[in-house]
Amino acid sequence: MLIGVPKEIKDNEYRVGLVPSSVQELVHHGHEVVVERGAGIGAGLPDADYLAAGAMLAGTPAEIFATADMIVKVKEPLASERKMLRPGQILFTYLHLAPDPEQTRDLVASGAICIAYETVTSAGGTLPLLTPMSEVAGRLAPQVGAHSLEKAQGGRGVLLGGVPGVPAGEVVILGGGVSGTHAATIAVGMGAKVTVVDRSAEALKRLAAQFGTSISTVFSTRSAIEELVKRADLLIGTVLVPGAAAPKLVSHAMVRTMKPGSVIVDVAIDQGGCVETSKATTHSNPTYVVDGVVHYCVANMPGAVARTSTFALNNVTLPFAVALADKGWRSALAEDQHLRNGLNVMAGKITCAPVAEAQGLPFTDAKAAIGL
Ligand SMILES: NC(=O)c1ccc[n+]([C@@H]2O[C@H](COP(=O)([O-])OP(=O)(O)OC[C@H]3O[C@@H](n4cnc5c(N)ncnc54)[C@H](O)[C@@H]3O)[C@@H](O)[C@H]2O)c1
Repeated sequence: MLIGVPKEIKDNEYRVGLVPSSVQELVHHGHEVVVERGAGIGAGLPDADYLAAGAMLAGTPAEIFATADMIVKVKEPLASERKMLRPGQILFTYLHLAPDPEQTRDLVASGAICIAYETVTSAGGTLPLLTPMSEVAGRLAPQVGAHSLEKAQGGRGVLLGGVPGVPAGEVVILGGGVSGTHAATIAVGMGAKVTVVDRSAEALKRLAAQFGTSISTVFSTRSAIEELVKRADLLIGTVLVPGAAAPKLVSHAMVRTMKPGSVIVDVAIDQGGCVETSKATTHSNPTYVVDGVVHYCVANMPGAVARTSTFALNNVTLPFAVALADKGWRSALAEDQHLRNGLNVMAGKITCAPVAEAQGLPFTDAKAAIGL
């Protein structure tokens, strides 16, 4: 199979679909890989590394889309890329189609086989191609929060780890799932006093078993959150109700009770945020202040660490890319129900129920669509 890796063209997107070691793996399996010149530069991966791994280089995305059997990307294809997709071509990338009718229409019209990272499942019921980005965002949250607490950033001037004779800063994490657990790991490592709030008894048990007495776990009630928010130097929001907008656990009135210069990092902003005063920001202008509280609400936090994020993503996508290349899409999708759950659009048919439902379009079962 000929696998194509175009350079990402979305604003401020520096990740790349395949790293050189992934290319080498695919070449080892007897496939050919064509990478757009400069595609990996933003993640610190020069063209020479791709050549050494056995890739061919292309000067334009058009050359790649015109020839590749499978396109491996990171972000959803933009309009100019969608025009170049061909019937029968495999597209393997994040799509996030439900809220995006234009992209859905174009992918249906393309006749391509579009497999979305974010709906691929695992035997444990998780979304394994989404998890690494939650891990990255969770681990970044205390780092950006600590920076925002610095005086020059408008913060309270508190060092999260404290120093001998001066108490550590207080970090309150709302949501103890993937992101929240990774945020706790870093915050504990920084020496902060950490409290994690969750409504799931299972999550609280798991956190207590993992962290012992180095964090406090609290069951999520409005009164508990009210008290914790007042004390927090850094409040990190990582709650998720799958498929729904994030619950607004922190009201504007609660934000007013926070200490001047304290910081909110609302990781859940991509689902609308769990703080009433949160609104999405970008890496070029990441923070703003409401009632003296610094808010950091960047919707694509992993983009800040494009290199780490690219490798983390490749670790989970590569086995599926290899299966698709080795077996062809029909057998790969037929044999693996979890990969099949990633199939969103198949030769003009929408095969992901929530996407069809969100847009009032006809739904075709993925099995039927591939002729099983
Ligand atoms: N901003 C970014 O760049 C970025 C990057 C990756 C992920 N995210 C977002 O981070 C959020 C968290 O993702 P995740 O993978 O950690 O999710 P997850 O499902 O692993 O964890 C969410 C946790 O929230 C808890 N929760 C739900 N409702 C709650 C409530 N009312 N009170 C307390 N806890 C509650 C759940 O029990 C669960 O433990 C998602 O919105 C995800 O999209 C953002």
